Amino acid sequence: MAIKQDILKVLEENRGEYFSGEELASKLSVTRQAIWKGIKALEEEGHHIKATTNKGYYLEQTSDLLTSVGILQGLVSCNKNFEVIVEKTVESTNLMAKKLVGEGKKGNFIIVANEQTAGLGRQGKSFHSPKNGIYMSIVLDMQEKITDAQLITSKTAVAVVEAIESLEGLNPQIKWVNDILLTGKKICGILTEGIFDFEEGKLKKVIIGIGLNVNQDIKNYPKDLQNKAGGFKLNENRNQLVSKIALNVVNNLMEDDEKVMARYKKYSMILGKNIIFEPESQNLKGVVIDINDLGHLIVKLENGELMNISSGFVDIEGLYK
Ligand code: BTN
Repeated sequence: MAIKQDILKVLEENRGEYFSGEELASKLSVTRQAIWKGIKALEEEGHHIKATTNKGYYLEQTSDLLTSVGILQGLVSCNKNFEVIVEKTVESTNLMAKKLVGEGKKGNFIIVANEQTAGLGRQGKSFHSPKNGIYMSIVLDMQEKITDAQLITSKTAVAVVEAIESLEGLNPQIKWVNDILLTGKKICGILTEGIFDFEEGKLKKVIIGIGLNVNQDIKNYPKDLQNKAGGFKLNENRNQLVSKIALNVVNNLMEDDEKVMARYKKYSMILGKNIIFEPESQNLKGVVIDINDLGHLIVKLENGELMNISSGFVDIEGLYK
């Protein structure tokens, strides 16, 4: 690891706490000159480092660059090992993940980007991904089966809600199947993709893509998204939220399905709502009466019949008005 990464690691682990040049030099077994150079390089990258004569340096709470050092620090208690790759700009973190796996990349890894130029949404849609948001793909090895594949997206939605609740004190809700809303506006979308091993006939890797509208001015979003998209300003830095989400995802995937799905139901805003949906191009209306442990909606149609919906888009009456 380059010296500047070592310095960043020490400062990240002790945010808001001074370290003198001398202490850093002795801790990292390098010269004070090397520490000074490393600090300058970190500042040039955009880290907010406070330097005070006779006290030393600290990483300010406002310093909000995405870094692998910062993210890994929040993953020390995770029971899976991850490599963390941070990018300033990518087309799509899911696309990059698929490319790396295709090139033979092994193990679990996370790609996080500050910006995407061609973010992917569900069903071929795009996902608007301007600078300074959180766009991440968690890539998990599925050689050893850790959960029922059809529950991965729902368990991820619960993980995101719980990360935002615990770090930010907000109460987001889930709009079936995988949108996260805050005060009725979409703040997060999830796109889960699988890489199948045809020779072995099983799922090899899963790529869980999560896009969060943080620290954005929604007024700058494209017109067609403005009545639908929401966002929030982070109290914590982005690294902490990325780690917490990844930690929660791993824990939820390994937890009992019924337990996580009970929480999915608790966070869902769709129960009891009138919906319109289009299975096989029919236009149907009904009221959602339940969500089962597979994450399917149980809908009572206008003619009284019950229908089980496992996928697709639904419009909720009164939402995004
Ligand atoms: C949706 O709401 O339709 C799903 C959006 C998923 C967006 C995330 S951002 C990180 C990852 N990379 C992508 O290209 N898409 C997902």
